[in-house]
Amino acid sequence: MKTININLKEYSYDILIKADILKDISDKINLVYEGKRLAVITDENVYSIYGLELNKALVQGGFETSFIVLKPGESSKSIEALSYIYDKLAEFKIARTDLIVAFGGGVVGDVTGFAASTYLRGVPYIQVPTSLLAQVDSSIGGKTAINLSHGKNLAGSFYHPKLVLIDTSVLSTLEDRYIIDGMAEVIKYACIEDDSFFEFLNNLDINSLSCHLEDIVYKCCNIKKLYVEEDEKDRGIRMKLNFGHTIGHAIEKYFDYGKYTHGEAVAIGMYNISLNGEETGYTKAGTSDRIKKILIKYGFEYELPQISIEELEKIIRSDKKNLSDKLNLIYLKKIGEANIVSKFILD
Ligand SMILES: NC(=O)c1ccc[n+]([C@@H]2O[C@H](COP(=O)([O-])OP(=O)(O)OC[C@H]3O[C@@H](n4cnc5c(N)ncnc54)[C@H](O)[C@@H]3O)[C@@H](O)[C@H]2O)c1
Repeated sequence: MKTININLKEYSYDILIKADILKDISDKINLVYEGKRLAVITDENVYSIYGLELNKALVQGGFETSFIVLKPGESSKSIEALSYIYDKLAEFKIARTDLIVAFGGGVVGDVTGFAASTYLRGVPYIQVPTSLLAQVDSSIGGKTAINLSHGKNLAGSFYHPKLVLIDTSVLSTLEDRYIIDGMAEVIKYACIEDDSFFEFLNNLDINSLSCHLEDIVYKCCNIKKLYVEEDEKDRGIRMKLNFGHTIGHAIEKYFDYGKYTHGEAVAIGMYNISLNGEETGYTKAGTSDRIKKILIKYGFEYELPQISIEELEKIIRSDKKNLSDKLNLIYLKKIGEANIVSKFILD
């Protein structure tokens, strides 16, 4: 088993990573929780594959369980789903001394974290992420959120889990498109922090990934740890994790979240900001070409879709992260090193 400690003083917690660790979930929960009652929040897909197995492991460990099962997909990061969760938690008489378990992808993790942070003014929770994106990114760092009609992640909180339990074997049932989606974030970590990790990924491909997932997840969690510990509230260097995301979010939004997945849009963003960085002198020549090659290898598009630059800029300006007069763009100096470049936005 691999262990990483996220050191945030009184909000510190461990990430435990191991294939098949779900079997030992009760023992692992006992490390951080003395009670016996818990509510598991999950979605229909994850529940249908792992629900019974998980419940059995928890009941055998002496826990009294209740399950809240959401519809799969982004629509569950909504006020309606949150309200449903609150009602169920009340129905199950979950108290502040009980525990909530987020068992699913990033959607379940985000909405559960927000529910846990607000129900009864805060109930402890743990993250058991089941998608690649959730294992390398969304389960770590304490950002929770739901979407509003005005945009994604507009209501949320920083609320850290007591434990993150990562079972990489559950990725075997994740559809390929979600594995690829998560790989965009994996490639992003390599781009901003570690050239040798970039080369390691470059020597694999989508078919040879499965044997290396535990190492890949471990590496990414360690990189995220660096940024979260130094900048818990995302006001400084944690912004580097947004490499490729400013253009990526604009592309997702332009196509109304229908044409490109998050990972596909971020992939295009990483290549194009690096191309722009080379043109403007922020980025070492040849960087965008290396990114292009790795993106092709994992089946991503890299060219900007047919959107005018003016349209793209308009969307970028309306993003909640860019509401001040300054736009923070993340450029690579080279593979393995990122810089935040603040630009003034002129209307
Ligand atoms: N909080 C953060 O820091 C942070 C960071 C990045 C992304 N996010 C959020 O994460 C969300 C996306 O997460 P996601 O890509 O995991 O999407 P998701 O939660 O919708 O999961 C993707 C799909 O995979 C299914 N699934 C999950 N695990 C499975 C498994 N082991 N086997 C079979 N199917 C499985 C789900 O049911 C779903 O259909 C977005 O809402 C995004 O905003 C949050």
